[in-house]
Amino acid sequence: MTVLLTGGAGYIGSHTAAELLAAGYDVIIADNFSNSSPAVLDRLEQIAWKRPKLYNVDVSDKSAFERVFAENKIDSVIHFAGYKSVGESVRVPLNYYRNNIDCTLATLELVDKYSVNSFIFSSSATVYGAENEVPYREDMRVGPCSNPYGWTKLFIEQIIKDFSSAKPEFSAVLLRYFNPVGAHRSGLIGEDPRGIPNNLMPYISKVAVGALPVLKIFGNDYPTRDGTGVRDYIHVIDLAKGHVAAMRFAENNRGTEVFNLGTGKGESVLEMVGAFGNACGRPVPYEFAPRRSGDLPEYYADVRKANEVLGWKAELSVADMCRDAWNWQSRNPNGYEE
Ligand code: WQD
Repeated sequence: MTVLLTGGAGYIGSHTAAELLAAGYDVIIADNFSNSSPAVLDRLEQIAWKRPKLYNVDVSDKSAFERVFAENKIDSVIHFAGYKSVGESVRVPLNYYRNNIDCTLATLELVDKYSVNSFIFSSSATVYGAENEVPYREDMRVGPCSNPYGWTKLFIEQIIKDFSSAKPEFSAVLLRYFNPVGAHRSGLIGEDPRGIPNNLMPYISKVAVGALPVLKIFGNDYPTRDGTGVRDYIHVIDLAKGHVAAMRFAENNRGTEVFNLGTGKGESVLEMVGAFGNACGRPVPYEFAPRRSGDLPEYYADVRKANEVLGWKAELSVADMCRDAWNWQSRNPNGYEE
């Protein structure tokens, strides 16, 4: 079976590729490397002893992207391609709407033309907005989103649902990620954000490896157990396995289904800082700073639906997440740059 990963050289995509290769699937990656590295292909070959087929293409350029479908019999598409920085989306919203929606429309038009009936989408817990009680459940209301990035995810979910309603034989799975962290056990692939990391774990990793001086903790006056923000951190390998389970579900079902991919537990920023210090063998220097606008105090997933329907459950611990994140960062202090 052949699976196409749009944006498959990215953080989640590359780990999903590793799991798919290990499970015996043939993998095609379509990526323009706007936020990823070609080195990922060599690393995946080292991990899986099999190399994904690569198309270096902008997924939003439909005429160029069509080659992938014309030259291969594709059984399933996992759609990762898109910009994903919350802060950047506020600064350049039109770039986010243009890119993320065009990538999706081009992919769906080709999926339609070439009769691919299995489609997995990389969505995000950010679509739940700020008004839901925790833990978040898939049948809860969605929106309003607090940034253009989140709105693109919500708009794309709607586009997929409407497309699916018009095609009875189509099967779509929307995966709402909570907070992916960690890296492949080998330390060969991992999270490699461009510039100064926005997210907590890559920032802590850069401080631990000496690339950044100190972690700023955004707010210690939240109504949480220690005053710092609480999130549902999930190991990227568990997340990748969730995509394989979702693809298997899509093969045997029709219509659109939504699943949370999280652990169902929340950890605070201070707890993550402590866990990472244990993993790297020394305390991570930090200082408290004002709250970051748009941040919520606490959210985590209700994971019963994925557990019961997909037969999938996150198994790796916060200690595993920090161990593997540190292993990747310490072996690759400059990420994929040689
Ligand atoms: C986690 C916690 C911060 C950095 C975002 C997106 C979401 C998803 C995951 C794509 C919060 C605190 C962070 C720092 C800090 N991305 N923090 N200092 O904001 O929960 O979610 O990334 O799908 O869509 O919204 O993740 O890692 O940025 O923050 O104190 O330097 O760490 O305040 O409490 P977030 P995050």
